[in-house]
Amino acid sequence: MSEGSGAPHNVAAVARPFFIDTDTASDDAVALVIALQHPDIDVTGIGVVAGNVPLDIGVQNALYVAELCGATDVPVYAGEAEPLVVPLETGQYVHGQDGMGDIGLPLTGRTPAAGHAVDALLEISHRHPGELELVTLGPLTNIARALERDPSLPERLARVVVMGAVADHIGNQNPVAEFNMWVDPHAVDVVLRSGLPLEFVGWDISRTYAVMTPDDAARLRAIGTPTAHMCVDIQRVLSEFCATQTKLEGFDLPDPIAMAYAIDPAVATSTRRLHCAVETDSTLTRGMVVMDLLGFTGHEPNALVVTSADRSRFLAMLHAAVSA
Ligand code: BDR
Ligand code: CA
Repeated sequence: MSEGSGAPHNVAAVARPFFIDTDTASDDAVALVIALQHPDIDVTGIGVVAGNVPLDIGVQNALYVAELCGATDVPVYAGEAEPLVVPLETGQYVHGQDGMGDIGLPLTGRTPAAGHAVDALLEISHRHPGELELVTLGPLTNIARALERDPSLPERLARVVVMGAVADHIGNQNPVAEFNMWVDPHAVDVVLRSGLPLEFVGWDISRTYAVMTPDDAARLRAIGTPTAHMCVDIQRVLSEFCATQTKLEGFDLPDPIAMAYAIDPAVATSTRRLHCAVETDSTLTRGMVVMDLLGFTGHEPNALVVTSADRSRFLAMLHAAVSA
């Protein structure tokens, strides 16, 4: 919640402060529901970045989700509209033109908080030094800009959970790269070299542990709340992409399983500390986060990488969130 804005909608007296950075589209929206409805998490702010959709669309989507969760006290800030170096190429072919499955939701006319997402992250990090947990669900442009502005940011963040990359090096954007890392590889490079306490939940984890089959989706929707309906219905375009492109039965939820892990690290059943570096230039492998699984480079690890997860724990958190 923003400072001085009164009692938050559903937050415990002693709650962990989170800042969420997102390119809000269909799976980001589900991740926001999980965080906003969790009693132990105080979402201090939501920063939006261009990625799945252009910035203004992502901002409206985040505001819509916050409103549906009764979390209008959580400020939503617009951030960067373009990657650091390369031109923006959105994922609207994956999530729909409006990012929310093109099912006709009312996604216009809401007003974001004043100020820029990068300034908000820096300011809130000073408010919770050593305690703030950052969760990134989109390209890392806002985070790279924050580090450029203030290289001491890593000292004030307790952890940074990144939905991105693939530990098995099987990509969803090109043969080896995951979408969030591919959109702004130069930002990934800044982040990997920054000293931030990074924890990656890659698309391999989503593909293996967070695919919602039609039966899973029906069970979720049957909970019957407005958030349950939304979390399933907005995956319409994503489901088509999964059937034709990523060859999954149903749709997968990368950002939600990353959020579930951020809230409850026991969602991870194994992790490894690895050195990670990103390819920024190659047209063949742009955005590939090379994880040094066998220690070839001799470099010290710069990230914790989730290598397996507990699907039932994740699904329980998802069901609890939409039941709230
Ligand atoms: C990531 O890319 C986006 O399409 C999703 O929102 C998620 O953050 C998965 O690769
Ligand atoms: Ca996302």
